[in-house]
Amino acid sequence: MDDLSLGKLAVEAKSKAMPTYSKFHVGAALLAEDGKVYNGGNIETSSYSLTICAERTAVFQAIIEGQRKFKSIAIASDAEDYCPPCGACRQVLLDLCGKDLDVILINAKEEIIKYKITELIPHSFGEDFLK
Ligand code: THU
Repeated sequence: MDDLSLGKLAVEAKSKAMPTYSKFHVGAALLAEDGKVYNGGNIETSSYSLTICAERTAVFQAIIEGQRKFKSIAIASDAEDYCPPCGACRQVLLDLCGKDLDVILINAKEEIIKYKITELIPHSFGEDFLK
């Protein structure tokens, strides 16, 4: 799957989000090494801090289905501009998807930009500290 196609799946995944309070839809499409794609959308609750981001819904779903190796994740939102993952999601993506993960952002014009997860979370904490 090419990056733009994965980006478009992230745009589609926004329709599954449940941003009851912010009204800000975020969609994610996570590509596993075997070619399977996992969608995610942000889900909000009345206790705002219990909200979960789109990226994490996708990753946790993939993990629970037994996936352990990932190529890339695409992220789309209601903003005109690219929507980069929040700090918490950067840590989760690094820990659960690995240092080689590509993070593809897609804006409202369906232009894409790509980063390595390690560019987005430099000087990171990680499993090496816990050995
Ligand atoms: N949000 C995400 O889903 N992913 C991010 O990386 C940034 C923020 C969501 C959380 C919340 O539902 C809404 O965007 C506004 O913060």
